[in-house]
Amino acid sequence: MDKKYYITTPIYYINDVPHIGHAYTTIAADIMARYKRLGGYRVFFLTGTDEHGQKVEKAAALSGIHPREHADSMVGRFTELWETLNISNTGFIRTTEERHRKVVQHVFDKVRENGDIYLGEYEDWYCVPCETYYTEMQLKDGLCPDCRRKPEKLKEESYFFRLSKYTQPLLDHMESHRDFVMPEIRYNEVASFVKGGLRDLSVSRTSFSWGIKVPSDDRHIVYVWFDALTNYLTGIGYLEDEEAFKSFWPCDAHLIGKDILRFHAVYWPSFLMSYGLEPPKHIFAHGWWTIEGQKMSKSLGNVVDPHEVVRTYGVDEFRFFLFREVPFGLDGDFSKQAIVNRINGDLANDLGNLTSRTVTMIGKFLKGKIETPEKKGGADDHVETSAMRLIKEYRKEMEVFGFHKALQNVFEIMSILNKYIDSEAPWKLAKEGDVRVKTVMFNLWNGIRIAAVLLYPFMPGKSQLIWKALGIGKSIETCDLEEEMRFYTPSDIAPIDKIPPIFPRIEETA
Ligand code: ME8
Ligand code: MG
Repeated sequence: MDKKYYITTPIYYINDVPHIGHAYTTIAADIMARYKRLGGYRVFFLTGTDEHGQKVEKAAALSGIHPREHADSMVGRFTELWETLNISNTGFIRTTEERHRKVVQHVFDKVRENGDIYLGEYEDWYCVPCETYYTEMQLKDGLCPDCRRKPEKLKEESYFFRLSKYTQPLLDHMESHRDFVMPEIRYNEVASFVKGGLRDLSVSRTSFSWGIKVPSDDRHIVYVWFDALTNYLTGIGYLEDEEAFKSFWPCDAHLIGKDILRFHAVYWPSFLMSYGLEPPKHIFAHGWWTIEGQKMSKSLGNVVDPHEVVRTYGVDEFRFFLFREVPFGLDGDFSKQAIVNRINGDLANDLGNLTSRTVTMIGKFLKGKIETPEKKGGADDHVETSAMRLIKEYRKEMEVFGFHKALQNVFEIMSILNKYIDSEAPWKLAKEGDVRVKTVMFNLWNGIRIAAVLLYPFMPGKSQLIWKALGIGKSIETCDLEEEMRFYTPSDIAPIDKIPPIFPRIEETA
């Protein structure tokens, strides 16, 4: 069976400076992509930028340049950040690419031919920064319910998508696919919204021009969300490489923030049903990050620059923190104290110390070699059986984006190993000339090796360093997950000796 996995992030608005929120979703997708690759899957991991719309048009006009030029000057901010964060995406899409124009026009045309797009007139409150229309009812004190800015009243001729027709089909689909939207709280939110009945959706604009033209009616441009969502088809070669496309569609997971749930879980599957493609398997909407207890905003000046965090704490430390600190799906708060606590506690103490103590003892007591145990006690078997149980739990959680619980399981292994090293005191065994010292070191070495593999999706760089410290020369990235998830005597490892700390403690400055 061909094991494939297709995962996406939102394509981010080019106008924003990428911050911790964008980093979060993209790292989450990277974690899943790396995890699936470890499991032998053929993975396509897509990210990109959303470059059309009135906001971009206005920003470009302000600088007196063409919107395309404006977009060109912004896209590097994203691609550079993904490099810094060690993101392993296989594709990158910009909605201004020619291949994308073709796909959007093709899809629009077909949906219109199918009778699901008709011409009408639209009048409502439009929020330019959010590229979204709101009804009078949806406004809050006359302001955009999302960004709290003043919307404009717009009336224009517009093409409409018969979203209303998909109310029942969508409900049916959700009923038979309970994990279509994750986590459950988001599923319920979408289900109750759809149950309320869907109204037809305006899918073209005439009030500005920076977008993809509606086929055979170029007074209109395609609504930016119709354009943006279609990136998930373009990105894997739709219309260009049918073979590749078919081998990856339907998408396994669209990872998004909860802010754009409706677009992904209501509009997108309806477009796809109308067009005749299968809906994605899962849409996972995660929670929202605040900064030191406050909403992140340009005006508050508290937007967290991920480059800065990486410079201060390290890339893997940052990646780890985001998923260890907050259950994936819930809101979270970023604070310096919280990240320092995680680094000093989980990483420096529980993992780093254990690794360096173990490595030093293997060097000292066993001349740097791991040998097959000759003598075992109850405490020894307990380590292995617990590890096996926790690995299973970890894998179960990873499959359902339970990153937080997956990490808890890894740290339970760590805690068992830390207790084991203290209770079994290998230094005493060595002093007494007891051969059980080999057993204890064998178990510690195996436990740490396994933990490094489980941590690899989160901390690809550091987990490789741990392997190196354990004398393993192989690349952890290409290791065989099944093969590594058992205790074994290594045959081809380098001599193991003292190492510099892998996770240095952060000294707290008052
Ligand atoms: O919505 N906490 O792009 P966008 C957590 N172009 N995640 C956050 C966040 C925060 N404080 N802030 C942003 C768009 N995000 C459209 C998407 S997709 C076809 C088109 C993340 O630049 C989160 O993933 O506004 C959110 O959904 C996304 O950035 C919004 O990015
Ligand atoms: Mg946004």
